[in-house]
Amino acid sequence: MKLSVGILGATGLTGVELLRLLVRHPGVEIAWVSSESQTGVPYAKVYPSLANRLPEAVSTLISMQAAQQTAPDAVFSCLPHAASAGAIEPFLKNGKTRVIDLSADYRLADRAVYEKTYAHAHPHPERLAGAVYGLSEIHRQRITGATLVANPGCYPTSILLPLIPLLREGIVLPQNLIADSKSGVSGAGRKATDGTHFVFVNENFSAYKVAGEHRHLPEIAEQLSGANGGAVAPLFTPHLVPMERGILSTIYADLAPGKTAADVEAAWNKAYANMPFARPVKDLPQTADVTRSNECRFAVRQVPGSSKVILVSVLDNMVKGASGQALQNFNIMFGLEETLGLL
Ligand SMILES: NC(=O)c1ccc[n+]([C@@H]2O[C@H](COP(=O)([O-])OP(=O)(O)OC[C@H]3O[C@@H](n4cnc5c(N)ncnc54)[C@H](OP(=O)(O)O)[C@@H]3O)[C@@H](O)[C@H]2O)c1
Repeated sequence: MKLSVGILGATGLTGVELLRLLVRHPGVEIAWVSSESQTGVPYAKVYPSLANRLPEAVSTLISMQAAQQTAPDAVFSCLPHAASAGAIEPFLKNGKTRVIDLSADYRLADRAVYEKTYAHAHPHPERLAGAVYGLSEIHRQRITGATLVANPGCYPTSILLPLIPLLREGIVLPQNLIADSKSGVSGAGRKATDGTHFVFVNENFSAYKVAGEHRHLPEIAEQLSGANGGAVAPLFTPHLVPMERGILSTIYADLAPGKTAADVEAAWNKAYANMPFARPVKDLPQTADVTRSNECRFAVRQVPGSSKVILVSVLDNMVKGASGQALQNFNIMFGLEETLGLL
């Protein structure tokens, strides 16, 4: 029997990416796709590339209110933060539906950190303790039993997957970590702003939200601190590059005494053995290596004569950084083959 799934905010960039994956997933039946601004509009009018890919009965966008009258097996929320927590609440209350939230609403365990970072009161702080951070390879066991999975941010996924095993095993020191990350423009969502408009992005390269201003930093710090067993306060500088999709993070770390780049590779190989979507590689990875795939790839280089290592990590922000990892989490939650619909 197929599992029924609904998508809230299906008109956005992560929504359409998710639908592209779901229409090929053999264990899924799409129950509905929702939109507030385009209720009643055929999905194929919004995204003609998906014409004839949705069953006739669900090919028109429905309102969030109509969606909330249903109880599918799973709901993916592709809504912005704040809107998402309110929208998924009826599903969490119906006693059946399990939710994968792509927004940041349930990513931070600490309510005060969330409220400071996102500058509004958390709509449902009572649910924070029960939400599971959906970094699939790291929290797989807790994801299996979860009703609410908070899908990680795109930059955090690219930084956490290479660093967490190294902190857990004491291969790198928790001090002086620096993540220097570059993202394609789809990371900012569908609506163009002055910062993401083609005219200003094309043939341009810029840093933004430096020195602790970016909202992904508390998420990165919380997860690294958990892996380290004590506070970690990395530096994180995001950049915008003139490409559609992809993230490359260059991470600078100090090796623990006596450790080398070979220990980094050994820790990765141990942590990610038989995990197809977290892949240590020898050659320096490039964003094009993982375009439209659910893989995060990373490599290490040690600075000769020094205890510094440089980790280079890449992923597709729309796939492993968002909708692909969401589907991976869905597969884990429902006991399906983890790679289903993703290879
Ligand atoms: N883009 C990425 O690389 C990425 C990566 C990881 C996580 N995320 C997160 O995933 C979520 C979706 O991101 P996205 O890039 O897909 O955003 P998006 O392209 O802006 O799409 C969001 C959709 O949500 C709907 N929406 C907007 N405001 C709403 C509101 N107040 N109430 C109800 N619906 C609203 C809109 O649909 P209608 O106008 O049709 O109603 C819109 O199409 C965000 O929380 C984002 O932070 C994004």
